[in-house]
Amino acid sequence: MNIEIFQTEEQLDRRAAEIIAEVVKTEDHPTLGLATGGTPVGTYKALIELHQQQKFTFKHVRTANLDEYVGLPKDHEQSYYYYMNEHLFKHIDLPLDQAHIPDGTASDLDAECRRYDDILASFGRIDVQILGIGHNGHIGFNEPADALQAGTHCVQLTDDTIQANARFFSSIDEVPKQAITVGVGPILKSKKILLLAKGESKADILHQALKGPITTQCPASLLQTHPNLYVLADEAAGRKLK
Ligand code: F6R
Repeated sequence: MNIEIFQTEEQLDRRAAEIIAEVVKTEDHPTLGLATGGTPVGTYKALIELHQQQKFTFKHVRTANLDEYVGLPKDHEQSYYYYMNEHLFKHIDLPLDQAHIPDGTASDLDAECRRYDDILASFGRIDVQILGIGHNGHIGFNEPADALQAGTHCVQLTDDTIQANARFFSSIDEVPKQAITVGVGPILKSKKILLLAKGESKADILHQALKGPITTQCPASLLQTHPNLYVLADEAAGRKLK
């Protein structure tokens, strides 16, 4: 496990973007596992800057996002489809048919999960998986539970997660209660994992995930078993790891 702690968010974002850019530049058919939420916004901004400065292309890249809310159409400002377009896709030369996000409006959600697993299987494995961490230790929307699922599945979001994500909606009632998430299988199979954490509110859970027992009650703790885990934290989130 490589733990790097940064004095500023900008430094963290730049380092994360450099790791991602390296994969894009050196792999023949790079596959990126993408996350949404507040944490990676700056990383995507730094990646766009690198793309513009260094003029490397995303034309040969394939991406798969971790999750999507059930019920939000693509043009909803809080859908992860909309987020990815705003924060990354519309600024780079990635062909959109190579960018994959679960469809939270599919009429048959189980079929949508199988379709998504087929896409992930066609990737073989993700070259670099970007992850944030929930206050309850979730990765993707794999919430704490007695057992975790390997494949893509529909999940009931916990009250914790609904509350944490309410900041993006005008009221908590508007936060979807369900999501589609990639399971822990493809995440743990990734060649490299980039776990990003920012802010004091992540200090306890980050410490628990990386230094505590490995348990499905803290899904991020499974990352301890990964041979190529990079943890990038700012001073506040990484406070307990020093
Ligand atoms: C988002 C995702 C979630 C977030 C996590 C942290 O695609 O999979 O696991 O990474 O909820 O969210 P933020 O970054 O908003 O604190």
